[in-house]
Amino acid sequence: SSTPQMEAKNSVLGRENCRAKGGNPGFKVAILGAAGGIGQSLSLLMKMNPLVSLLHLYDVVNAPGVTADVSHMDTGAVVRGFLGAKQLEDALTGMDLVIIPAGIPRKPGMTRDDLFKINAGIVKTLCEGVSKCCPNAIVNLISNPVNSTVPIAAEVFKKAGTYDPKKLLGVTTLDVARANTFVAEVLGLDPREVDVPVVGGHAGVTILPLLSQVKPPSSFTPQEIEYLTNRIQNGGTEVVEAKAGAGSATLSMAYAASKFADACLRGLRGDANVIECSFVASQVTELAFFATKVRLGRTGAEEVYQLGPLNEYERIGLEKAKEELAGSIQKGVEFIRK
Ligand code: NAD
Ligand code: LMR
Repeated sequence: SSTPQMEAKNSVLGRENCRAKGGNPGFKVAILGAAGGIGQSLSLLMKMNPLVSLLHLYDVVNAPGVTADVSHMDTGAVVRGFLGAKQLEDALTGMDLVIIPAGIPRKPGMTRDDLFKINAGIVKTLCEGVSKCCPNAIVNLISNPVNSTVPIAAEVFKKAGTYDPKKLLGVTTLDVARANTFVAEVLGLDPREVDVPVVGGHAGVTILPLLSQVKPPSSFTPQEIEYLTNRIQNGGTEVVEAKAGAGSATLSMAYAASKFADACLRGLRGDANVIECSFVASQVTELAFFATKVRLGRTGAEEVYQLGPLNEYERIGLEKAKEELAGSIQKGVEFIRK
């Protein structure tokens, strides 16, 4: 039998449902892995996004605590929490955008590929849920190794018959944020004025900053090019080492994920000229997936841009990037097809 408190709460929840359904126009967003280092800050940032009407926070641990906490913020989005595999389907049903930062992070001495064993299975399970419950949602995949988890997701969606290459987006925004920051430091500019295209993938030499295409147009000495390329490629490792066993980038990543998710939502809304770098299905090179600038629209990545003119240093970097990427993509594909 219900108590007056339960009735009061249910009536409040009933009103929240109305708000989520129609009173507050906006998009429905799920975060899978919401109680993690990235997930918690990202939940905070998405709760602050005026384009979000309903925010579903899913994790296998601690989702209720994060949900209770974030739900007290007096911003528009209605927040609901989902805990454990049994609630995955409810978490995903009806979502427009699904952001996936679920999975283990690196410790010093590890490569992103060392995470494959555990994270591949997590991404597979979560993407099977997406196929079943929100096959038309845009997916922002953060879990590492991104160079393999995006091909894994694509294979899961193909198997289920729900694959739309425009809607599967590997998140490489942190590489761009780092590149903008480090280049701005060298040039003595505000990072908000700097735009560095970063192409390829999201691990070591596959992260290829195109310094010849920096805006505003800038020239660098060979030493600056070497320093910047290395620092951008090893930005993740720089944080892993500084955290000394306590994980990898979470705060800058939540910022980057929130920036990318916001761009996806502006695209869905129909805004023009929403352009970000992302690791997507691609015909820019001979590889099935590659990160370049893409234009985000109502149906996802509607246009995948070409690389543009590269200098000799970048052409050599591109060959190295493609060699490693080919193996990582193959490994992801085989994980599902085997
Ligand atoms: P974390 O360990 O702090 O959080 C991960 C969360 O995932 C945990 O709360 C855990 O309970 C949850 N989780 C595990 N299995 C799950 C499942 N089956 N379903 C739902 N949730 C599950 O790690 P983190 O620091 O937040 O990093 C998460 C991932 O993001 C790592 O793989 C990391 O390498 C990656 N990452 C990617 C980028 C990028 O640029 N793409 C940047 C930083 C980190
Ligand atoms: C990053 O670039 O910070 C992430 O991919 C996490 C990592 O392992 O470096």
